[in-house]
Formats: sequence, C-alpha cells, structure tokens
Amino acid sequence: MENGMLVAFEGIDGTGKSTQLQSLANFLKGQGLTVITTYEPTDSKYGRRIRELYKDRSSCTPEEELNLFLEDRRLHVNELIEPELAAGKIILTDRYYYSTAAYQGAAGMDPTEIFARNSFAPVPNLVLLLTMDPEISIARIQEGRGEELNDFEQLDQLRKVADHFAAFADPCIARINAAQPPEQVQEEIRRTVQTRLF
Ligand code: TYD
Repeated sequence: MENGMLVAFEGIDGTGKSTQLQSLANFLKGQGLTVITTYEPTDSKYGRRIRELYKDRSSCTPEEELNLFLEDRRLHVNELIEPELAAGKIILTDRYYYSTAAYQGAAGMDPTEIFARNSFAPVPNLVLLLTMDPEISIARIQEGRGEELNDFEQLDQLRKVADHFAAFADPCIARINAAQPPEQVQEEIRRTVQTRLF
C-alpha cells in the first residue's frame, strides 16, 4: 500500500486558512498531484450539531462540546482520511486536532488530555499554522466578510485560543505569518511544503 500525505491548516478564525488551502490545492494539482481537500467540523451529524452550537455554546457543557468534535473527527478519520492516505493521496484539511486542543483548551479543557484523546487520528506530515494577532483577525472577520462573530470567535476567547496555538511545539508544525499580504502567505506556504514534504 502506498502512503499519502496529510497536511493540516490551523490557526484562529480570520487568518485566511480556507483561501490559502484552496490556492495550495490548485498549485499542487497543477504539478500533477492528486489532492483531496476537506474540512472540520465536517458535514456529519456531529458537525451539524456543532454548527448549531456556534449560535449558543451555553447549550452544552465543555465536555459535551469536546465529545462532539472528537466524534466528528473519528468519522472523518475512518471514512476519509485513513482510506485516502492508504490510497496515496495528498489530503489538505482545513482544521484538525490542534484546533480542538486550542479551542476546547480555551474553553477550559486540558490540552494535554485533548491531544491524548485524539491518539486515534493520524499525526499530520505537516501543520501549516497561520499566525495573526486576534485583534487583526477579528477586524478581518467583521469588515472583510461582513459577518457577525459567532460564539467561537469572541475576542477574549480568541486570545486564549491564540495563546494555546502559540504553545504547541510538535515538530510537524510550521508557523506562517498570516498578517502578510495573501500572495506572500501563499509563497511561504509553497516554500514550506516543498522543503518539508518533497
Ligand atoms: P471554521 O473553520 O471557522 O468553520 P466554518 O468556516 O464552517 O465557520 O470552524 C468553525 C469553528 O469551530 C471555529 O471557530 C473553530 C471551531 N473548532 C473548535 O472549536 N474545535 C475543533 O476541533 C474544530 C475543528 C473547530
């Protein structure tokens, strides 16, 4: 069996993960590689429940919230990530278990325990951690997208999330300064992918 590659995009809300992921996917496809793009929370029943939670997080406990993200990931790993890795594909995922450690960590759960409870999930070959000051990312969300902040995106909370992300030190993590112009962010991402994966 061949072995594919798993690349996770991580970071606080408003850092441009989704756009950067699509751009990298197009670039890699242009090189003739087979690329699968995916995201968490997924569209499973757990993911749908999580999206309802965005509107009112007080409707469940931090433990219940964590369990929803874990169940959603378990499905994602079993149904997509493991089979596609086994088929030799390159998978780009918009968020993975570092988001759980950072966000549910900020919600009061222990990040070390969260990592331990994610041990079923394959360790990514590369994590592109997009970094940005939470004030800037929130301004981008509000002005750029014209969106209301959801419950996962409040400033105080997002600062805590950013602090957790800043503390992670796994060797698979590459930090990318997402406050640069988007084209420069993409250039740095491509350079990082080339040197770390190929
Ligand atoms: P996001 O990537 O912003 O999805 P969408 O584009 O559908 O809004 O993720 C939604 C929120 O979920 C985001 O604020 C981070 C949060 N989240 C967690 O709290 N824990 C997790 O494990 C994941 C994957 C996401």
